[in-house]
Amino acid sequence: MPAFPPTFQEQLRDLFRLRRDVRRFRPDPVPEDVFMDMLDAAHHAPSVGLSQPWRFVRVDDPARRAAVIAEFQRANDEASTIYEEERAQLYRSLKLAGLREAPIHLLVCVETCPDTGHGLGRQTQPVTLRDSAVCAIQNLWLTGRARGIGVGWVSILEPDRLRQTLDLPPTWDWVGYLCVGWPQEEPDVPVLETAGWDQRQPLESHLFQR
Ligand SMILES: Cc1cc2nc3c(=O)[nH]c(=O)nc-3n(C[C@H](O)[C@H](O)[C@H](O)COP(=O)(O)O)c2cc1C
Repeated sequence: MPAFPPTFQEQLRDLFRLRRDVRRFRPDPVPEDVFMDMLDAAHHAPSVGLSQPWRFVRVDDPARRAAVIAEFQRANDEASTIYEEERAQLYRSLKLAGLREAPIHLLVCVETCPDTGHGLGRQTQPVTLRDSAVCAIQNLWLTGRARGIGVGWVSILEPDRLRQTLDLPPTWDWVGYLCVGWPQEEPDVPVLETAGWDQRQPLESHLFQR
């Protein structure tokens, strides 16, 4: 396979650096072909044993979306109680989801008993099915960013409280709930860093040798 040209490599590096988790969306709809491109990129992700275990659930139904928003509020209030003083104040000031504004809600699940892949690779590490679905999310996220579409991953939800509402088959496990839409802003630094929640660490502190 030929290498991609240097200009593309530089742009790809920029794409990785400028991908952001988005919580503030404009309400304009995402063109269907753009969203399908994002899903297509996700569907090209690597997967253990070529199992392609991801399942994409678009949540359009207003009552179901409202139930997700209510669950976020409940879970976020509960999460805020583990902090004290200034950290608690800072936590409560953060906007940690764009569920109300985002034109698209997308739940990514993993089929835990797929017919595909014939079990290759997951006898030793069953979690690799889930890992494959996470790879799919990253493809979707970067493809969206390349087209100017923002993605926000909302983990402040208890999946078991929403399984029934979203009518999930028993073999599907929850991986990630995503908000998708046009971002209000495209900062080059993570929002949590700007807000003073934490700081990115240098690569050297995450690099080890054995
Ligand atoms: C698995 C996962 C779950 C996340 N859950 C949330 C969330 O519930 N709310 C939120 O505001 N951001 C969430 N994020 C986004 C992170 O806060 C964000 O990726 C991090 O602060 C770095 O910022 P960046 O993605 O803009 O580079 C999540 C990210 C990942 C990978």
